[in-house]
Formats: sequence, structure tokens, C-alpha cells
Amino acid sequence: MSETRDTFGRPLASLRLSVTDRCNMRCRYCMPEDDYVWLPRESILTFEETARLVGVFAGLGVSKVRLTGGEPLLRHDLPKLVEMIARDARITDLAMTTNGLLLAKHAAALHRAGLQRLTVSLDTLHPERMLAFAKSERHADVLAGITAGRAAGYDRIKLNTVVIRGFNDDELADLIEFGRANGAEVRFIEYMDVGGATRWSLDQVVSQREMLELLQRRFGPIASVPGDPASPAPAERFRLPDGTTFGIIASTTAPFCRACDRSRVTADGTWFLCLYAARGIDLRERLRCGATDEALAALIAATWRARTDRGAEERLGVRERGALYPVESLRADPHREMHTRGG
Ligand code: GTP
Ligand code: 5AD
Ligand code: SF4
Repeated sequence: MSETRDTFGRPLASLRLSVTDRCNMRCRYCMPEDDYVWLPRESILTFEETARLVGVFAGLGVSKVRLTGGEPLLRHDLPKLVEMIARDARITDLAMTTNGLLLAKHAAALHRAGLQRLTVSLDTLHPERMLAFAKSERHADVLAGITAGRAAGYDRIKLNTVVIRGFNDDELADLIEFGRANGAEVRFIEYMDVGGATRWSLDQVVSQREMLELLQRRFGPIASVPGDPASPAPAERFRLPDGTTFGIIASTTAPFCRACDRSRVTADGTWFLCLYAARGIDLRERLRCGATDEALAALIAATWRARTDRGAEERLGVRERGALYPVESLRADPHREMHTRGG
């Protein structure tokens, strides 16, 4: 298989497909506003168009695909898309990140269709906090989704917790214990100043260091678990004295740009080389104007080879750091929203 590397030698290996920009939650770190500008319906790629793009990316070295959104389970017939992607033997890792609300209903069908791994967002164990923070009363559905995921046969389910000071920073130990009891590994994520996080401020970020200090006080010495250099994961993993493992994604204080092999395609076929990139490349227009697979591959390869993005690292240099984009700029181009380009 051909390998395509960027200016820093980072391979084009991992693709995040946002299959819809819609979401049935309103997490404050992602969608805190009252209303949003949505991608036009006719611009959304069909499954055939998406699968064709995945095939082109696979030919250039992509082997990992993650379905995201918005909330991916809001896309009708998602198992059909999973099946189309899973058919491609070059895609050896097929995963999905979901908020879990609709997971109990779809976990088994997705697994049968070829979905291998699941990540479920779980920011709190308290239903009333979820209501206040994400405007959803359906905490029980998320827990049922995690249970259904296990029953459907996914192993290594991951739980994503965005840690925010004053909201859930008192729950870290409980979340680790919840993960242990439910056969899932928790990853704590530093609150990031991505597009859409319009309420972001540095004082709400709980750093990896602070999280570790807090957890050592509760559990005793914490050991670092060496990562697999062949698959650079954003999470650094740790082990408690009793053997329980958890992860921390320090995207704000210690970004992993140097090893970043990921890019993202939005539901309307716009390709972003970085989570923080201001602009993407319109692949839909070319697809719909009759570009051949070879022409698409040539464009993608040339673009990746010229890639210089290291958005999160560059943010470290910003003084007086605040929200990445003001609301008006997000309304003018919703591609700048995290929920459009894929969490
Ligand atoms: P695997 O390594 O395949 O398990 O996936 P993952 O760790 O990327 O999982 P997930 O999609 O759950 O991402 C976890 C979190 O990492 C996201 O919610 C973001 O906060 C952060 N993240 C994801 N993608 C990027 C990225 O491209 N750049 C940066 N800086 N952070 C990212
Ligand atoms: N900071 C960190 N992670 C975020 N996500 C969305 N917005 C943010 C943010 N501001 C991630 C969460 C969630 C996934 C869908 O996107 O990890 O689980
Ligand atoms: Fe990759 Fe950009 Fe995220 Fe850095 S900020 S890890 S380059 S996507």
C-alpha cells in the first residue's frame, strides 16, 4: 500500500468522517449557543459518495476510519455505510464516537455491519448535571447505550470525559471506577479552545498534571503505560496501583501535533487537514463534477504532502488565549464548528 507523508513526515493514516452536523445534545464545550446554521441538505454526501472517498483515501495509506458527527447515530441507516466501509480490507480499524443517546437501539446492528470499536462521551455520572450542562434529560439512555455496546460484543469501549473546572472535576475518581465496573476505559480530555467552544477560558481547563495530582491523592502512585509507537494515540495511558487503566488527552497543554496522522471529512465532503484549520478543501464539488478516482487521489496526495498544520501547538503561543472564533464567524462558516468537522 502506498504511503503519503506530509512536510513533517506524518503519514496520511487516520480519517475521521463526520456523517452529520446535527446533534441531539448541546454540550457546553461544543454547542453552547441557542441556534445554529446547518449544512444545506443537498450538500450532504450520499453513502456511495462517502464510501468512494474512503476508497480513494485507503489507496493513499488510510487504514483507520472513525465515524463522528455531530451525533453520528442521527444519520439514518448508518449500518449500511459501516458495511460499505468495512468491505474494504485496507480499512483495518473502524470506530465510532457517539454521545450514546441512541446507542442501545443501534449497537448490535452496527457491530454486525462491521463496526469494531466504540467511544462514548460521558462527562458526568449525575443526571442533573447532564441536564444543566448538555440540555439532555436522557442520562439513563447513555448508560443503557454503554451496556448495550458491551452486550453487542465491542471490546475495549472507551469513555470520553471532557474535564471542566467547577463542572465535573470532582468526578474523576468516580468515573474511573464506573469504567472499571462497566468494562470500559475512561479518557479525560482537557477542555479545548476549538471552533464552537465559545465559552472557553483558560481558567476552566484542568491540565493533565492537575488531574494526575488529584488522582494520586485518591488512589496512590500512578504509573505511566508506554504507548504503541506504531499507532500514535492522542491519549497517554496510566495505571492505578490496582491495575485499572485510564487515559488523558492533553490536547490543550501538551498537544500531539508532531505525531498527528489524522484528517477529517465533513458531512458535505470538505476535507480538513487539522482540527484548527480555518479552511478545508472541497472534495464534494469535484466528486459531483465527475472527477476520476485518480484525479481525486492526485489532489489529496499533493495536498497532504504540502501539509504544515500544527494547530494545537500554535495555540500554545497565543497570548490572552480565548475562544478560537467569535459566534458571528461560526455562523458565517459553520465548517469551523467542532460539531461540523467531527469531535
Ligand atoms: P483512537 O485513538 O482511535 O481511539 O481515537 P481517538 O483517541 O482519536 O478518539 P476520539 O475520537 O474519542 O478523540 C478523543 C478526543 O481527542 C477528541 O474528543 C478531541 O478532544 C481530541 N482530538 C480528536 N481529534 C483530534 C485532533 O485531530 N487534534 C487534536 N488536537 N485533538 C483531537
Ligand atoms: N474540548 C475537548 N473535547 C471536545 N469535544 C468536543 N468539543 C470539545 C472541546 N471543546 C470532543 C469530546 C466529545 C467528542 C465528541 O468531541 O471529547 O466526546
Ligand atoms: Fe493534528 Fe491539528 Fe490536532 Fe495538531 S491540532 S493534533 S495537527 S489536527
